[in-house]
Amino acid sequence: MTKPTIAGRTPIPTQLEAGKTYYFCTCGLSQNQPFCDSSHRDSDFSPKAFAVDESKAYYLCACKQSADLPFCDGTHSTLDASQ
Ligand code: FES
Repeated sequence: MTKPTIAGRTPIPTQLEAGKTYYFCTCGLSQNQPFCDSSHRDSDFSPKAFAVDESKAYYLCACKQSADLPFCDGTHSTLDASQ
């Protein structure tokens, strides 16, 4: 499978509402980061639907390499400039 495009190298602080369904961009091509704008069309990627239990700000992954998508797990700090 192809690797996602790195949309950013720092997480995106995002206010989320409990119980609402969000669609996280996994391809990295969306112009509406961190959410899907259908730019994944013609790719191997599809958006990740998710919801949260608590309304608050969350740090969502922009590098698309987190092992805990859609949330940042710090992986962005291990990427070198060539990635
Ligand atoms: S922005 Fe992707 S792991 Fe932090």
